[in-house]
Amino acid sequence: MERLQKVIAHAGVASRRKAEEMILEGKVKVNGKVVKELGVKVSNSDKVEVEGIPLEKEEPVYFLFYKPRGIISSVTDDKGRKTVTDYFPQIKQRIYPVGRLDYDTSGLILLTNDGEFSNLLMHPRNEIEKEYIAKIKGVPLREKIKMLEKGIQLEDGKTAPARAKVISVDKKKGTAIVSLTIHEGKNRQVRRMFEAIGYPVMKLRRERYAFLTLQGLNAGESRELTAHEVKQLRFLAESN
Ligand code: URA
Repeated sequence: MERLQKVIAHAGVASRRKAEEMILEGKVKVNGKVVKELGVKVSNSDKVEVEGIPLEKEEPVYFLFYKPRGIISSVTDDKGRKTVTDYFPQIKQRIYPVGRLDYDTSGLILLTNDGEFSNLLMHPRNEIEKEYIAKIKGVPLREKIKMLEKGIQLEDGKTAPARAKVISVDKKKGTAIVSLTIHEGKNRQVRRMFEAIGYPVMKLRRERYAFLTLQGLNAGESRELTAHEVKQLRFLAESN
C-alpha cells in the first residue's frame, strides 16, 4: 500500500505537493469515489482517477545493480555527488533503490519503481537475508565471531542472530576477511557490529541479497531481474 499522493506523483501526473493539492480540491477518485484526505493509502489493484482520467501506470521495472564505492544510494544528492540512479540514464521510469548501502560500501542493491515491492522487501518482518564480505582490521578471535552470531548490543538495540564465517586471515598485515549474513537493516549495522567487537571494517561489500548474487557483474554494471526472480523475491518475503 502506498500513499495516494505518492502514487499520483510516480505516475508522472504532478509533483507530490501538487498531487496533495489536487486531492484536497476533490479532483481525485479512488475506485469511483472522491477522496479528499491525504492519509489514504492505495494498492496496485485500486483504480485511481485524476480529474476523471485513469492513472496510466508506469511499467514496473526491477534491476540488480553492483554499486561501486563512493556512490550515494538515493535518487538525488543535495551535495551533487553521483547517485545510483545516475547509472540508469536510459531508464525513463522513476526508479529508486530498495534500501541503502553506505557511500563507502559496494555491492548488490536493487532498484525499482514498484513501491509495494520495495516496501515488502524492506519490511523487517520479512527477514530478507543479506550477506556482506568485510575486510577487517585485526585477526578475529573465535569467541568474538561467536558474539556477532549471537547478537550484539548496539545503541539502538540488540542485533538478531546472524551467521559469521572467517574466510581468510593475513597475519602479517593483521587483517581478515569475514562473511556476515544478517536479515536486518539498521543503519551502518555491519560496520557497527564489527566495531563493537574491536575490529573496524576497512572495506565492505554486499555479496548477496536473498538468493541473488553479483555473479557476472563488475562494479557499476546492472542487469534486469527476470520475472521469475521478482516472483521468487515476493514469495520469499511474503512467506516470512
Ligand atoms: N551495513 C553497513 O555497515 N553498511 C552498509 O552499507 C550496509 C550494511
